[in-house]
Amino acid sequence: MYRQHQGTSAQETFRMKIGITGANSSVGINLLSHLSKKEGIEMVAGVRSESAFASLPKSASISPAIIAYDNPESLKQALTGADCLIHLAGILIENKHSNYASANVAATDAVVKAAQDCNVGHIIFISVVGAGANSHNAYFRSKGVGEELVLNSGIPATVLRTPILMGPGTAGANSLRSAVSSSQAKVLGGGQYCMRPLDTDDLSQALSKLACTPVTDSQVYELVGPEPIAYRDLIKKAGSLVGKEVEVGSVPILIAKLGAAITSTLKGGGITPTVIDVITMNEFVAENADEKIGINLTPLEDTLRKILIGES
Ligand SMILES: NC(=O)c1ccc[n+]([C@@H]2O[C@H](COP(=O)([O-])OP(=O)(O)OC[C@H]3O[C@@H](n4cnc5c(N)ncnc54)[C@H](OP(=O)(O)O)[C@@H]3O)[C@@H](O)[C@H]2O)c1
Repeated sequence: MYRQHQGTSAQETFRMKIGITGANSSVGINLLSHLSKKEGIEMVAGVRSESAFASLPKSASISPAIIAYDNPESLKQALTGADCLIHLAGILIENKHSNYASANVAATDAVVKAAQDCNVGHIIFISVVGAGANSHNAYFRSKGVGEELVLNSGIPATVLRTPILMGPGTAGANSLRSAVSSSQAKVLGGGQYCMRPLDTDDLSQALSKLACTPVTDSQVYELVGPEPIAYRDLIKKAGSLVGKEVEVGSVPILIAKLGAAITSTLKGGGITPTVIDVITMNEFVAENADEKIGINLTPLEDTLRKILIGES
């Protein structure tokens, strides 16, 4: 049974309080607007800066909070009274200010400790298909370590491993839009790798279901989109939806990695050989968790229409 919470408006009583980190991420914005349409849910939307704070959707059920992952008090303040924590903060592309150790591991460690101190009843962690604490790939390894921190927290935890995400503001949708903006696209290895693009609306449905279901033990789920598709075919399909025949050419992966190694070292971040390995990995899963979680997946074509043509 979840705790009762008094809402911010006089008449409102929230049945449940959810703390969300990385609330300004593309997934976070989608999730906040999804959850704000549901009755009885109060959200504390954790972000790191004033500008991120200002970017959050406005709703009586959303309380924005500025948090610092190296300031336990700020995390505890945000999570006090939370029934569930959805930890979204995390990166694939490192920069001068954020790397895998800080964004994917230290931030997870900090929120787990705060969740323990605040007696949070359930932690949901967004991970990635391919994550593993012993992976040779630094990104997959950092997400795998994050998973272990959450799963060993003593709090019932749900790890949701996801593939490339498609929705407003996601890196995947932005790349696809750019690929179909002209009649020729050059992609890594000719885009032969297989993807399982997941609609961010479906991810938000899944997070909402998981957060609202009482749990007593921990689970690791892999949730991917309905249709496996090679990236080159995805570009062609997206092209045909916007009335374009897109010719897909190839950037050899080895050459791309060499260029990425040099430029990322000079710039202190950006696309690295690690990122290229992640992007070009085949997204295979043993079992898709859509049925277990109880959601209906959006057909890929409908997802593409939403991100390319703005159809809802
Ligand atoms: N997009 C995908 O295709 C995909 C696929 C699989 C898994 N995921 C996972 O899904 C989650 C959301 O992804 P997204 O693409 O929506 O993210 P996003 O839009 O790129 O946003 C990244 C979030 O992480 C925060 N962040 C960055 N560095 C941080 C640090 N050092 N400490 C704490 N927070 C930090 C950012 O905060 P600031 O704005 O303050 O920097 C922002 O809230 C992430 O955990 C990501 O790994 C995404």
